[in-house]
Parts: sequence; C-alpha cells; structure tokens
Amino acid sequence: MRIIRSLGQMQSAALRARRAGKTIGFVPTMGALHDGHASLIRAARRDTDVVVVSIFVNPLQFGPREDYRRYPRTFQRDVAVAKRAGCDVLFAPTAAAMYPKNSRTVVVVTGLSEQLEGASRPGHFRGVATVVAKLFHLVQPTAAYVGQKDYQQSCLIRRMVDDLDVPVRVNVLPTVRERDGLAMSSRNAYLTPQQRREAPVLARALRAAARNIRRGERRASTVRAGIARALACAPHARVDRIDIVDAATLEPVARLRGRVALLAAIRLGGTRLIDNVLVAVP
Ligand code: PAJ
Repeated sequence: MRIIRSLGQMQSAALRARRAGKTIGFVPTMGALHDGHASLIRAARRDTDVVVVSIFVNPLQFGPREDYRRYPRTFQRDVAVAKRAGCDVLFAPTAAAMYPKNSRTVVVVTGLSEQLEGASRPGHFRGVATVVAKLFHLVQPTAAYVGQKDYQQSCLIRRMVDDLDVPVRVNVLPTVRERDGLAMSSRNAYLTPQQRREAPVLARALRAAARNIRRGERRASTVRAGIARALACAPHARVDRIDIVDAATLEPVARLRGRVALLAAIRLGGTRLIDNVLVAVP
C-alpha cells in the first residue's frame, strides 16, 4: 500500500491509472477507521482495480464550537486497517495544501446543505460538499463508496455529482453496527462507559419506530413522539433532532407513504451521535 501526501502526486497517480484503463474505487474518510469504513473499502476492493482511501480531518466541515481539534487521529492504526481491507493508495493531504490561504470556492447544494442536520450544524455540509468535490478531482474515481450512516451526506453527495455532471458512480452501503445496535462511529471513542451503555437507545428507538410503521402507523407526529419517548429511557441522553422525511427528497412528511427516512441525533455529554433507518411504508 502506497501512502501519498501531495495533491499533485495523487492526481498524477490517478490520471496514470485511468489512462491505463483501470477503474478507481474511492472511500473518503476522516480517519479513526472502524469496521464501517472497512466495509466500504472492501466493497471498493470487490468492484474496482485500484482502491484509494483518503484520510483528511476536514476543518471546513467543523463549526467553531465543534470537535475539530480533538477529533480522534489514529494514523498508524488506520494504515493497518486500510491495508487489511484492501486499500492500494492511502491519500492523506495536509489542511494547508487542501486550503491554501487564497482559496475562495465552496460548493453549496441548495435546499440540502442547510436543512435537517445542516440546521443543527451551520456550514457543515458546504464543508463536506466542498472537500468531496476537491477529493473527486484529485482521486478521479470511477466509483465512490459512502455510508448510509450519514444519510443526508450520502444524498448531498449524490445530488452534487448529478448536478455537476461528475463522472462518478456513488454507492451507498448499509450502516455497520456494534452488537448492541450502536452505529459504529469515530466519535463513539468519546463516550464514557456510562454513556456507552446508554448509546444504543438511539438505534433501538429508531428500530421500534420502523416496526410501528410496518404495523400500520401512518402519522409522522405519532412516530416522532414514540421515538422521543424511547429516547427518554436513557437518563443522560438529550434529544437534538428527530426528523421524519421522504427518503428521496428529504422533505418532512406528515402522512407516511412510499420510502421514508427516520433520522435522529442525540447528545450524551459533549458527544453528538446520529443514526437513521429507512422504511418502505407498506
Ligand atoms: P467519516 O465520518 O470518517 O466517514 C467516512 C465514510 O464512512 C462516510 O461515507 C460514512 O458515512 C461512512 N461510515 C461511517 N460510519 C459508518 C458505519 N457505521 N457504517 C457504514 N459506513 C459508515 O463522513 C465523513 O467522514 C466526512 O464527512 C467525509 C465524507 C470524509 C468528508 O470529509
């Protein structure tokens, strides 16, 4: 496995591979790799000739009060995880190289960047769209692999790729979970043992709501109240958001029909956790 830090070297390596007729599978990450990331890398390995994983803690997508500085950085471990999952090129640029002082361009996916999670985290999704657009230009992927865990992010990346005619196929893969249901996340490392015991409440609340819909519930307000009640079972969890939206448009819905996404975010101490489930309404 080759480690590349320079933007120029990454782009030349990618263009060389594409000119040689090879397909490139790309997994963008912020590091602190876990099994969720590894599942994306393995999918890229199955589908494509050259697998590129990027590790870049993107300052542009963190708010001023968020955890950019303390975000877990575990580069040596990540090298081993990426290699084992089948990565060929690990791309780890510096923030100074990605965002030179004179850079001024940002990517905003209107109507998607500022809604839902974007309302709780102003500026977050323009940071995501901007860095993903840059990474796509540097890595020249044939296919990109992202997680359903960050559902709004996956929709935003798909929208951007469509709108800007980026020649990349975006594959969204299922959320990988711990045995107790907690969605794997680099931020789980922040949880104290007590908080870790309470964290699975998020997945449990969403699963119960999905069951409720499959049994016939059609009112979003009732589903939302059920999720809130289930989350209240964890004494230290504070509800940040509960959104019930159309899975394709991410528009809030009142009556459930078609495919819906149930999205929720909680805080446990200083840690914000998100999760979601998709439900095909019978
Ligand atoms: P990061 O949180 O490191 O996640 C990288 C990719 O792994 C994302 O596509 C995310 O959805 C996926 N992922 C995270 N947890 C997962 C899980 N439990 N199961 C399956 N996939 C999971 O998301 C980002 O980084 C950044 O915003 C990024 C897209 C790299 C832009 O900076």
